[in-house]
Amino acid sequence: MSTALAVPRFGRRQELVDPNAPAPIAAAPAADPSPAQASAQGAPPPDSIAELRTLCLARLDPTAVSNMPADQLRNDIERLISELSSLNRFQINAREQRALATELVHDILGLGPLEVLLADDAVTDIMVNGPQRTFIERAGKAMLSEVKFRDTAHLIGICQRIAAAVGRRIDESSPMVDARLKDGSRVNIVFPPLALDGPYVSIRKFSRRAIDLNRLVEFGALTAPMARALQVAGRARLNVVISGGTGSGKTTLLNALSRFIDVSERVVTVEDAAELQLQQPHVVRLETRPPSLEGKGEVTQRDLVRNALRMRPDRIIIGEVRGGEAFDMLQAMNTGHDGSMSTIHANTTRDALTRIENMVQMGNMGLPSRAIRTQIVGAVDLIVQVERQRDGRRRVTQVTEICGMEDDIVALNDIFMLEVQGQREDGILYGRYRVNKVPPAFMRRLAYFGLDTAWNDAVAEAVG
Ligand SMILES: Nc1ncnc2c1ncn2[C@@H]1O[C@H](COP(=O)(O)OP(=O)(O)OP(=O)(O)O)[C@@H](O)[C@H]1O
Ligand SMILES: [Mg+2]
Repeated sequence: MSTALAVPRFGRRQELVDPNAPAPIAAAPAADPSPAQASAQGAPPPDSIAELRTLCLARLDPTAVSNMPADQLRNDIERLISELSSLNRFQINAREQRALATELVHDILGLGPLEVLLADDAVTDIMVNGPQRTFIERAGKAMLSEVKFRDTAHLIGICQRIAAAVGRRIDESSPMVDARLKDGSRVNIVFPPLALDGPYVSIRKFSRRAIDLNRLVEFGALTAPMARALQVAGRARLNVVISGGTGSGKTTLLNALSRFIDVSERVVTVEDAAELQLQQPHVVRLETRPPSLEGKGEVTQRDLVRNALRMRPDRIIIGEVRGGEAFDMLQAMNTGHDGSMSTIHANTTRDALTRIENMVQMGNMGLPSRAIRTQIVGAVDLIVQVERQRDGRRRVTQVTEICGMEDDIVALNDIFMLEVQGQREDGILYGRYRVNKVPPAFMRRLAYFGLDTAWNDAVAEAVG
């Protein structure tokens, strides 16, 4: 063993250096009992793992190891751990050694304890509330995970790594950052003093397997005939707004609907953090830019939507309307960019209209309500409401058509409306969709595209 220590290996420091040298992400907790003392006490002291971690990190050359392939690094670290534990007589079993090796590899090459959660496809959201508490969402339910960071410094190191990867800084003077991980997951970080209990990290995991309409039907998010009706709506280039609460599945449904866009169409997407996964060949993706530290250089969604109009788009897709761009979106929808789609944060389809109206008003003071509503009626054809319901399942709860104006009020017609009838023993809700068979106002448009029969068939089948 001692000979191996003397032989320099790739990725390891060539000489024994100060064991308190800074670790790649954060130093391990200090003040452990000496290894000899620890083993004399018999039981495997948890602190000896911390000590072993410090010794290992001191022996690894940060520059060399950060460029090593994960497998090789892991082998190297496992060997190093085993050597160091025998040398120092740490009573650490093989399982603990493997766990430490995994932890070190994750710290050196990735995002530390978050790696396990990032690799688990069943985890859809990760919410870190300071170093000791990390919640996750699985199957629509939030729960506390076993993941803990060693200390605040460990978590800070990981946050800074996330921010640095997208060329941003996060610290007390710049305490909020939106970023994306390499795998496309969306991240928001808030630091103290705004965050009161240590850094907060919220990650919306990027779904490796895109969820299409068929899968949404399998999940019970909507019925097969409803999915067909939505598909017809997309192909007939109706302007669609998807409305719902936070994490209700808006972006997922938007992605699923976007699959029916014809490959010949030029689609411009505008997003705050690019999440859309369009499959078509002719997609132009635009992403906003936050202001620099000096407060300069910001490019808003509104700027991008305006610019998109000059890019000869067939359709414009806005990831989520949240401000003044609502006005430009309506303009786009009203000026021949049919088939445009977006999402909005609202609790009902009626509420979505009010939100659009408020957003337009905020960006264009003095525009009379009636004028805005007329614009909305001219622009939006369909609003689809999604909801994460109390059983944790995400479902389409309402598909509403905008039919026109009645006096000063926008007239709506619910084509599909979910009625929850009860809850099964396993907690899952059950119910049925109420279907309105009255031909929608956009029927002529469907006929123009030769899709009226397809729509009627889907609705007839939905009625059952
Ligand atoms: N019907 C569904 N069944 C199961 N999982 C779903 C369903 N719809 C969406 N999801 C998952 O739920 C999570 C949230 O979905 P999504 O990002 O689409 O929500 P959102 O409403 O756009 O959220 P936000 O308000 O944060 O933008 C994702 O991980 C997604 O894969
Ligand atoms: Mg979204």
